[in-house]
Amino acid sequence: MTSEVSNDQLMEVRKQIELKGGSPVRAWQIKDAIAKKWSINLDESTIRGRFIEMDQPLSGKNVGAAKPKEEEDTGPKTERQHIDNIVKVKTSVIPENIKSEIPRAEEFIDYVERDIDRRLAVHYNIGPVTGRYKYPITQGKQGTGKTYSHKYYAFRNGLPFFLYSCYEDFKLAKLFGDKTIKNGSIQFQESMFVRAIQGPCVILFDEINAVSNANSFDFHALLQNRELFTNDANDGQGRIYKLHPECRIGFAQNPKSAKYIGGHIKPSNFLGRCTYLTYPEFKKAEIKTAISRKFPKLVDSDLEKFVKYYFAVIETIERSKIPVDISIRQINNVIDLWVHGLSIKDALEDGLSSILEAVSQPKAKESFFRLAQAVWIELM
Ligand SMILES: Nc1ncnc2c1ncn2[C@@H]1O[C@H](COP(=O)(O)OP(=O)(O)O)[C@@H](O)[C@H]1O
Ligand SMILES: [Mg+2]
Repeated sequence: MTSEVSNDQLMEVRKQIELKGGSPVRAWQIKDAIAKKWSINLDESTIRGRFIEMDQPLSGKNVGAAKPKEEEDTGPKTERQHIDNIVKVKTSVIPENIKSEIPRAEEFIDYVERDIDRRLAVHYNIGPVTGRYKYPITQGKQGTGKTYSHKYYAFRNGLPFFLYSCYEDFKLAKLFGDKTIKNGSIQFQESMFVRAIQGPCVILFDEINAVSNANSFDFHALLQNRELFTNDANDGQGRIYKLHPECRIGFAQNPKSAKYIGGHIKPSNFLGRCTYLTYPEFKKAEIKTAISRKFPKLVDSDLEKFVKYYFAVIETIERSKIPVDISIRQINNVIDLWVHGLSIKDALEDGLSSILEAVSQPKAKESFFRLAQAVWIELM
C-alpha cells in the first residue's frame, strides 16, 4: 500500500550523496544508503522508477558544481518539522457512536499513495497539533482522486469519515437534526453530523462549489467559530455545539469549466478561510500500479493493453476537447466486465465508450473504437 521509503526521504538521500560531490549520483548509491539507514531493500530499477515518477533527475542537479549553496549559508536556520512527523498524528479515543464510520483497510488495497496525500495530511493535522486550523479545499478534474484521498487520510489516521455531497440548496443547518413537537414542547433529535463533530473525525463537503453563495455563509461561521448553533435544541432555547479539537473539515470541488456546468465560484470570504490543493492527474506508472493491485491475476500483456488504451483515450479527449472525463474508475469497470466474461468489444463499450452517447458525442465513440483497434488486433 504505502512505500516504505517516502519520496521526500528518497530526495533527501540523493541530496546527501550529491553533497559529497564528485560524479553524478547512481541508483546503487541510493540503494546502499537506504539499506544502511533503514535496513530497507529497494532494488535499483524501483529507485529509478520512483525518480521518474517524481519527475526528478536521479543523478542530481549539482553535478560538477564547486560548492553547493546550502553549505555556504552560515546564518541561523528556522527549525522546521519533518513532514513524516505531521503526516500521521496521534488520535484520541473515538466515541463508540461514530466508530463504525472509520474507513476499513479493504477499501484501499489498490490505493496508490502520492505526494498530494502527504500534503493533504499536513493541512489536516496542523490544526489539532497547533490550534491553527486549516480547511483544505481540494480541486482538480473529475477522477483525479480528490474524494478518495480525504477518505484515505481518515483511514490512515483512524478517524471516522463523513461525506456530504453538496448541491445548490444544501443548507448546513439542515444537517443538525430534526425537531418534533411533543406535548407542546420541542424535542430535538441530534443528527449523526452533530455527534460526529463532537469527536475526532474528518468531515468532507464534496462538490462545495455546487452550493449557492447565500447558503455558503453558514460555512464561514462554522469555520471561523468552530462551533454550531441550533435554535431547536434544549427545548427550543437553543444550544451551541463546539467542534472537537480533532474534528477536521475539508472541501472538494471541480474546476469551473465548460464540462462542469452550474458551479459557483466561492466568495473570497469563504476561500480566505481555506487552504488549496490542486490535484495532479494520475501518471502512467500510478495507473498501472492501481490496476495491478485491483486485478492481481491480470497478466502483464493485458495490463499494458488496458493502460495503453486508457491513455490513448485521455489524449483524444484533451486534443479534441470532448466534454467528458474518464478516470481510473472507467478502466477498472472495463476490466471487471471483461474478466467476468464480456467480449473486449462489449466491455470497452459498456464500461467506457458508451458514456459518449450519454453526453451526446456519438462521433467520438467511433474514434474511441479505432483507438481500441490499434491495441487489440482481434477488433480489426
Ligand atoms: N490514490 C488512488 N489510487 C488508486 N486509485 C485511485 C486513487 N484515487 C482515486 N482512485 C480511483 O479513481 C476513482 C476516482 O476517484 P475520486 O476520488 O472519486 O475522484 P474525484 O473525487 O477527483 O472525482 C476512484 O473510484 C478510484 O477507483
Ligand atoms: Mg469527487
